[in-house]
Amino acid sequence: MLLGAGILPALFSCAGPRPIYNHSTDGSWQQLSLPQARPEYTIFALGDAGDPDTLRMDSNFGTLRHRLAAAGSNSMLIFLGDNIYPAGLPHPSEGRRKEFEAHLDAQIAIADSFAGRTIFVPGNHDWDEGHVNGYIRAREEEKYIEEKMQNASVFYPEDACPGPQEIPLDSGITMIILNTQWWLHPYAKPDTGICPYGSDNLFLNEFENLMRKNAGKKVIVAAHHPMESQGPHGGKFPVTAHFFPLREFNRKLWIPLPVLGSIYVLFRKSGYIQDLTNKRYKQLQQRLESVMEQYPNTIYLNGHDHSLQYIPKNGVHYVTSGAGTESSHVVKHKRLHFGYPGRGHAEINIYPGNEVWLEFYRTDKSGKAEVLFRSKL
Ligand SMILES: [Fe+2]
Repeated sequence: MLLGAGILPALFSCAGPRPIYNHSTDGSWQQLSLPQARPEYTIFALGDAGDPDTLRMDSNFGTLRHRLAAAGSNSMLIFLGDNIYPAGLPHPSEGRRKEFEAHLDAQIAIADSFAGRTIFVPGNHDWDEGHVNGYIRAREEEKYIEEKMQNASVFYPEDACPGPQEIPLDSGITMIILNTQWWLHPYAKPDTGICPYGSDNLFLNEFENLMRKNAGKKVIVAAHHPMESQGPHGGKFPVTAHFFPLREFNRKLWIPLPVLGSIYVLFRKSGYIQDLTNKRYKQLQQRLESVMEQYPNTIYLNGHDHSLQYIPKNGVHYVTSGAGTESSHVVKHKRLHFGYPGRGHAEINIYPGNEVWLEFYRTDKSGKAEVLFRSKL
């Protein structure tokens, strides 16, 4: 206990979040620079940004805003879900509505001087944290964002449908957006009466159709939930989680609870619906991955885990950017080419000839954007 209460926190708490590099990327990435040519298209991705400091511009948001101001019109800012914590946007008649509107306003404000396109994708927290009012609250959020931005093409997939929704970005670049919470949601959700692909089979078949239709193009699949992750939603926990489980909720809570910690980790590994250990979640993973692997160099972009991660697997590039307003652990593994258990965002630059570069950024001590990792995909 003394070891837990004293030495471990001392070892870890002062260090701050540190990037994790795979042995093959450690150091060598710094020798790489982006091509001189102008990118055909740039995607800025920030997830889980729904708990901002609404009294002032959050430093992480400020960094991204600065990056966006320098971008041209051939670019997109995508919010990867969990745009409002903890349980989505209540109806206007409910108390605290204004408070939660402010969470969205803070994100919309990032794109103030951005020449590109901004879109939002829903996550489990937007769906009432996966509870009974999920569908209603997702629709509330869609309506609010569309009215606030005076644009009907900003929230995807539309009408809280599962998608898949195809968005052509450029002649050779397509984004396919999925509402993965629809798949996992155990309560009322729209079916084929409202959504063209509102059943499991229709949704999966249309995903396959869209991937086939866009073969030869650069395809980015965007959704809230990861298909590969070395974070808690991937069922991966460091030894410290057994001793300090409260850190899973607040990184500063170094309170030793060894027995409860192990129970918590066991629960999270046993198939919680929001984790990749869950049977239904796994079913989605297997179906999506088996399709994407037929189209090498597909990029799968997600939030949900509050970290930055890059995992290449069987020709598919899995990119997590869910560190908008929170941070969570990333467990080192040889398949993880890069991980960062702190806040930041991802950028994907697509150059002529389908040359694609991935970068991750955080805010440095002086408040400037600092690149943590870059890789040619
Ligand atoms: Fe989430």
